[in-house]
Amino acid sequence: MKLPLLLVFLWTLTTFSLQMEQVRAEMEQLETFDTQQVVKRQEANQRLRRDLDKCRNGLHAGPPPTEPPNGSCPYGEFLNISEPRVYTAGEYPGSYKYGAWGRDPKPEPGKESWHWLVLMTSSNRYSNYVRQYHSLSSLIVGQSVPGNVLISSSNPTTNTIQGPNVVLYGGSLYYNCYNQHAVCRFNLTSKTVTNVDLPQGTRYNSKGNFCHLDECYPYTDLDLATDESGVWVVYTTTQDFGNLVLSKVEEGEPPKLNQTWHTSVFKQGVTNTFVACGVLYATRYVSKDVEEIFYSFDTTTGKERFDVGIFMNKMSTNIQALNYSPVDQMLYAYCDSNMVSYEAMFESSGDSF
Ligand SMILES: *[C@@H]1O[C@H](CO)[C@@H](O)[C@H](O)[C@H]1NC(C)=O
Ligand SMILES: *[C@@H]1O[C@H](CO)[C@@H](O)[C@H](O)[C@H]1NC(C)=O
Ligand SMILES: *[C@@H]1O[C@H](CO)[C@@H](O)[C@H](O)[C@H]1NC(C)=O
Ligand SMILES: *[C@@H]1O[C@H](CO)[C@@H](O)[C@H](O)[C@H]1NC(C)=O
Repeated sequence: MKLPLLLVFLWTLTTFSLQMEQVRAEMEQLETFDTQQVVKRQEANQRLRRDLDKCRNGLHAGPPPTEPPNGSCPYGEFLNISEPRVYTAGEYPGSYKYGAWGRDPKPEPGKESWHWLVLMTSSNRYSNYVRQYHSLSSLIVGQSVPGNVLISSSNPTTNTIQGPNVVLYGGSLYYNCYNQHAVCRFNLTSKTVTNVDLPQGTRYNSKGNFCHLDECYPYTDLDLATDESGVWVVYTTTQDFGNLVLSKVEEGEPPKLNQTWHTSVFKQGVTNTFVACGVLYATRYVSKDVEEIFYSFDTTTGKERFDVGIFMNKMSTNIQALNYSPVDQMLYAYCDSNMVSYEAMFESSGDSF
């Protein structure tokens, strides 16, 4: 009687440790893969950034570039979006409905595979820290090393993060600062905050939100975005009658706004936006399973389109934050407490990578 039981026990134990070993090996593989991908993408990205610069300058001086054939994006036209690539509840399953995650497109050396997470920890509205993970796999299994970087010990206070559409770029978090129509920038190294005001008339404090049908997403007045050229802010103003406005944010100290573009798409008919290759894209709600990238505005040509027609399959009903990462051409979405990523597919995605 006892021997078979012991055997079963030993067998279970062995299977279990074999499984653990397998999981560990898979995690290691995933991390190596993470790092290799990042290095490869960064090399490609530097090349593409040069191409983009060349191309931009080409519009004003010198002979017209032969590459790219269409538009200003070195990858060609944005054509489609993949099925979800990463889908994880992360460290706090179901705890925080509003948040954002991603990776820094311009990381400090050694932090190339780090990922970040910002959760609206209070009233679905405020946050006072950035949580960091040293790889995608550590974010998935919920092991935060090196942990949190605090903006202040409590919230809300002057420089509290208000609203989920934040981005990390160049070691700084860009976000809507609490109770102001301004972009705040929190430098995670110096732990200081500097800011830049948006124009008078900018809607803030949940008065210029993203919406679908008759429901709006609270405190989504300012949507920060990253692309190949840096940081952008998407918002709306009273004088623009609630239509989307897009401004380039320059990295200097303090940050400054550069050029601004006015669109004719009504923000309340949009659920979120992202910028890729200098083109603003807007999404709208189709059903609980599908979101549509329906609109684009090309800042190089000023051309608007309402017929983009790219569909995203969702893992849950709402998208609270959405951003494009120029290091890996992925879209990072935060959806009802879950972190989801998608691959953005361009005309030449397949060839270059
Ligand atoms: C540019 O795009 C247009 C329409 O999308 C297409 O008709 C044209 O052939 C393209 N040009 C090149 C050089 O690929
Ligand atoms: C776009 O990608 C989806 C997968 O996300 C695929 O099912 C669909 O066929 C693609 N559409 C086109 C036009 O390639
Ligand atoms: C952040 O602070 C560090 C240390 O003071 C500094 O070297 C870096 O330039 C700052 N970053 C920005 C974007 O100002
Ligand atoms: C504004 O953008 C232009 C074009 O990219 C650039 O040449 C200029 O330096 C920028 N201005 C500031 C203040 O950064």
